[in-house]
Amino acid sequence: MEKIVILTGAGISAESGLGTFRDEGGLWAQHRIEDVATPEGFARDPALVHRFYNARRVQAAKAKSNAAHAALARLQMDFPGEVVIVTQNVDSLHESGGAEHVIHMHGTLAGAFCPACSHRWASPPEMAVGEPCPACGAATARPDVVWFGEMPYHMDAIYDHLAEATLFAAIGTSGQVYPAAAFVHEALQSGARTVELNLEPSTGTSSFDEVILGPATETVPSWVDDLLSPR
Ligand code: OAD
Repeated sequence: MEKIVILTGAGISAESGLGTFRDEGGLWAQHRIEDVATPEGFARDPALVHRFYNARRVQAAKAKSNAAHAALARLQMDFPGEVVIVTQNVDSLHESGGAEHVIHMHGTLAGAFCPACSHRWASPPEMAVGEPCPACGAATARPDVVWFGEMPYHMDAIYDHLAEATLFAAIGTSGQVYPAAAFVHEALQSGARTVELNLEPSTGTSSFDEVILGPATETVPSWVDDLLSPR
């Protein structure tokens, strides 16, 4: 059976109005990674980190999924094989676009996490310093997102999927953050064909068998049309 494994990044949500990280004017031009996306930054100034993620939660709640998210949902529904979507994005736009079984390797804005007892719950729209964990009462609740220096979620399942992939696609990701940036090599080792869909060539573009450049809302629907058209 054919198995398509798709890795998405911030570029797939760019046309929904959510900023990417490394493009000109992206989030990392406005904030220091060390301050807002590391466990050390949270320990130093949790209020700043909560403000950063509260703002992103407000922005994400207003964003609507776009034609690229919808096309991947259609592929998942109609492809006569398995389609696994792995996203680095913390928004829920794949789900609002109709996708099922999305693997959020960097967590989600919709979740809160207690580092003291590992309890997870639905995040309120605004998180605040000192908010008690509903399970153990510890006042160290944080967004359920993966920060630099932390292990992304669901890695065993992702590597199992990559080992079985017949086609691997990376969509809207700059290929600068590991381990996601190395998925293409895992897929190649499994004998999968590899394709990149991005606005511009990513850092790892030479590892892909095929590169399709352009905005995701245009390239992804037509790539999906090709995959679904009878051969
Ligand atoms: P980046 O901001 O690094 O890369 C986004 C990519 O999307 C770039 O290569 C852009 O060229 C491309 N892009 C922009 N607009 C696009 C469009 N309309 N259509 C198609 N492509 C477009 O974002 P990620 O690769 O997702 O991690 O970043 C990976 C991780 O680094 C994130 O999950 C986050 C970040 O720091 C953490 O916070 C832990």
